[in-house]
Amino acid sequence: MTARQRPRWSELRPLFGTGAGGGRVERKLARAASIGDLRLLARRRAPRAVFDYTDGAAGDELSLRRSREGYAHLEFVPRVLQDVSAVDPSTTILGKPSALPLVFAPTGFTRMMHTEGEPAVARAAERAGIPYALSTMGTTSIERLAAEAPGGRRWFQLYLWRDREAGRDFVVRAAESGYEALVLTVDTPVPGPRLRDVRNGLTIPPSVTRRTVVEGARHPAWWIDLLTTEPLEFASMSHFDGTIAELVSTMFDPSATMADLEWLRSAWDGPLVVKGIQTPADARAVVDRGADAVIVSNHGGRQLDRAPTPLEVLPEVVDAVGDRAEVYVDGGIMSGADVVAAVAYGARAALVGRAYLYGLMAAGERGVDRAAQILRSEVTTTMALLGVRAVADLRRDHVRRRTD
Ligand SMILES: Cc1cc2nc3c(=O)[nH]c(=O)nc-3n(C[C@H](O)[C@H](O)[C@H](O)COP(=O)(O)O)c2cc1C
Repeated sequence: MTARQRPRWSELRPLFGTGAGGGRVERKLARAASIGDLRLLARRRAPRAVFDYTDGAAGDELSLRRSREGYAHLEFVPRVLQDVSAVDPSTTILGKPSALPLVFAPTGFTRMMHTEGEPAVARAAERAGIPYALSTMGTTSIERLAAEAPGGRRWFQLYLWRDREAGRDFVVRAAESGYEALVLTVDTPVPGPRLRDVRNGLTIPPSVTRRTVVEGARHPAWWIDLLTTEPLEFASMSHFDGTIAELVSTMFDPSATMADLEWLRSAWDGPLVVKGIQTPADARAVVDRGADAVIVSNHGGRQLDRAPTPLEVLPEVVDAVGDRAEVYVDGGIMSGADVVAAVAYGARAALVGRAYLYGLMAAGERGVDRAAQILRSEVTTTMALLGVRAVADLRRDHVRRRTD
């Protein structure tokens, strides 16, 4: 006969909801086991147009799909019996320590995803021990973010402005507010065609129409947040008096050239990162003009559809640049395993945009913390399963492309 015993209180406690499980949001976040799960929570919380603005990409979204498939087609080559009792996922980025080979990428309109916005992302990045880049299109100003996350590694992302003096003003403000690096985005001579936004009739900020009121009934928490907190605006450009379309056309300069990069190099003393590099030739050209790092990126597929797949171009760019500059990669990264693959393929670090935005949209700052936690745990576990103790030991022969 089976011997029986009385159940322990610690085993029953969760049934009575008196455990240390926290509130409803904490429980939902704890049950999100992957960035994909956070994406599903985000889709439930945010109105469709806002979710689609974040989740979507340009044209037929081929670039984004291929970026994700690039990672899916990689296979890890593990070594066994390697003593991975202590795995250290830390590295250096721009010569300073970073707890992970990871950076939170610049994203515009972040307070639209959740009213806690950029300060939440910056504080979560600080807690995770990684850098965060504030976008020029941010909904929190350069100065405010510095005040809200004074201890974090803050970078500032810039476009080459049509009006060079306006561009210089940003450079001065970033320097005065203690930003560590400038990130110049170069893949946006004009805005990319975002078809989901057109179909959804997205306006920025979102406006209250009959359609949004009906939608609002399904996402009340998001709308209450929007209507009862500070208005959404391009906070670093609050003096700008014009429509969004006018703003974008003054901000993106289709006539910018490599000579403008030299101008920016002379205006900024700190590290300069060029984002949106898609060929080895361009990587060499911007490094020749003083870039300290390049980001192999197609803007998460949001600009040129059918652009090169960043992961595939990465090894060529690394070879072209050598040790003259650091090389980072972004686009389509949805897990810590993807981050490890990117580093093994030659990147010093990877950037993620949507991965943390899904967390933010799902639950504000706590959601970004959860995204960072998931990525960290996946990086560490993947390294251990690969038989690698330190980031510096990740090599190209730890990954290979499947041909099927
Ligand atoms: C909603 C959203 C807004 C973005 N806004 C900017 C921006 O203002 N400036 C910029 O350089 N990149 C911007 N990006 C691109 C990201 O910096 C990054 O390159 C991209 O998100 C990486 O792909 P992933 O989202 O698949 O990780 C944005 C991306 C998203 C998803």
